[in-house]
Amino acid sequence: MALLELKNVESYYGNVQALKGVSLHVNQGEIVTLLGANGAGKSTTLRSISGLVSVTRGDILFDGQTVLNIPSEKTVSRGIAHVPEGRRIFPGLTVKENIMIGSSSRKNVSRAQLDSEVEEMFEIFPPLERLSGALGWSLSGGEQQMLAVARGLMSKPKLLLLDEPSLGLAPLIVQQLFATIRKIRERGMTILLVEQNANMALSVADRGYVLVTGELTVEGTPEQLLNNEEVRSAYLGGGNKK
Ligand SMILES: Nc1ncnc2c1ncn2[C@@H]1O[C@H](COP(=O)(O)OP(=O)(O)O)[C@@H](O)[C@H]1O
Ligand SMILES: [Mg+2]
Repeated sequence: MALLELKNVESYYGNVQALKGVSLHVNQGEIVTLLGANGAGKSTTLRSISGLVSVTRGDILFDGQTVLNIPSEKTVSRGIAHVPEGRRIFPGLTVKENIMIGSSSRKNVSRAQLDSEVEEMFEIFPPLERLSGALGWSLSGGEQQMLAVARGLMSKPKLLLLDEPSLGLAPLIVQQLFATIRKIRERGMTILLVEQNANMALSVADRGYVLVTGELTVEGTPEQLLNNEEVRSAYLGGGNKK
């Protein structure tokens, strides 16, 4: 059974249909990537899963149960962590405080337990340790992205939704970030990764889908997608852009 399954999901902003029947699944332990150009509906897909956008038609099953149109706080406590586009860390709070906030959906967790989990985040994201007391605003883009992912992991999710983590980061930083994404997967996390950076996303993913104006057009293994003419020309710079 898939951990996450979208069945013909349709979502709107007012009268504008952003998703036109999206069906995809993510199995336990997989990294699945959702590729697509700006405006294709990638973020809307993640927002539909985490309850931030209401779904008009179709169904979303998580762990075998529908999570359709339940509020986003409830999807977090069911085990879905959404790391949004643009990171949205709290600029006036310290790194440690930002990390701790990620645990707010959990009940009855001791301070000692939280402290040990923060230490675990420092193991996964070593650059954050020496920044523990630094304020959010003072971090570089790459550090902010690590912090946003660490905060997401503090909800102890079964599924991590990552929205364009590489956006605006220098190539070397992107490489480091994707190394941490691999590390998180090795610890057993299941990840749905939205990216415009197809090369990087396909380097870590088990499978991928391509979204074009609210509809999935291609799906397959990284190898299949890398060899697909449409994918190459549109997303990998391997031909004439449409
Ligand atoms: N808050 C919003 N209000 C109205 N339209 C929106 C809103 N957010 C996104 N859209 C539209 O929905 C479509 C999909 O957007 P989005 O999911 O953000 O795409 P992507 O993440 O792939 O860049 C686009 O046409 C976009 O203009
Ligand atoms: Mg987006």
